[in-house]
Amino acid sequence: KGMASGQMSRDEALECTHCRHACHVLLYSETASHLFGRIPIRYIVLMQMRFDGLLGFPGGFVNPSEETLEEGLTRELLEELGVAVPVSKEDHVESCFSPPRSGTYSSSSHLILHFYVKKIEEEQIREIEKAAASTAADHGLEVLGMVRVPLYTTKSGGGLSCFLSHSFIGVARSQLMNSLLRLHLVSPGDLQEALRGSQR
Ligand code: APR
Ligand code: MG
Ligand code: MG
Repeated sequence: KGMASGQMSRDEALECTHCRHACHVLLYSETASHLFGRIPIRYIVLMQMRFDGLLGFPGGFVNPSEETLEEGLTRELLEELGVAVPVSKEDHVESCFSPPRSGTYSSSSHLILHFYVKKIEEEQIREIEKAAASTAADHGLEVLGMVRVPLYTTKSGGGLSCFLSHSFIGVARSQLMNSLLRLHLVSPGDLQEALRGSQR
């Protein structure tokens, strides 16, 4: 923990006044729907295809001198999703320095990433997807489209395994995997299996 892993508390992070801050959120809901009428989807987890072709979470740069982290995140969500999803301090999961390419963490990497998780209703997910593909200011520009994360593994090895083999921005891939485990959306065994599959 601490600086060595790049982790810090929300308050410690805000003490760095010369740092840039970015907030992103994993939005998810339960669902009763089934793929092919037989594979339970169980949960809808939202990510997005970014302008740079990488998968990431909705959110972006915030300015703590003008807004709280959560206000800034909600503003970014309005731009990217077309819906001002309210995110609060209670939804905060972790803050860390953005790992530079070398993979070492230090306060000299002046970007601090704040990560949030929020559970919403399936109906809200559908509303977000509709707005993100139509009225959202960033649609087709900074955000190419919203995507749902497949949490299952099909008989042929598709699903989560294939999804994880795509390219992700920054630490988004580990934020996704850590969240799936912490929220019990995927069992450790199923994630292990998906990871083995994604290396084939
Ligand atoms: N993990 C690590 N880093 C991330 C993640 C993540 N999950 N998501 C985004 N980042 C990084 C991005 O690389 C970027 O440097 O955080 C920063 C801000 O996030 P974005 O969502 O990309 O920022 P946003 O405010 O939405 O707008 C994009 O970034 O590249 C610029 O000029 C471009 O104006 C544009 C802006
Ligand atoms: Mg943005
Ligand atoms: Mg963004």
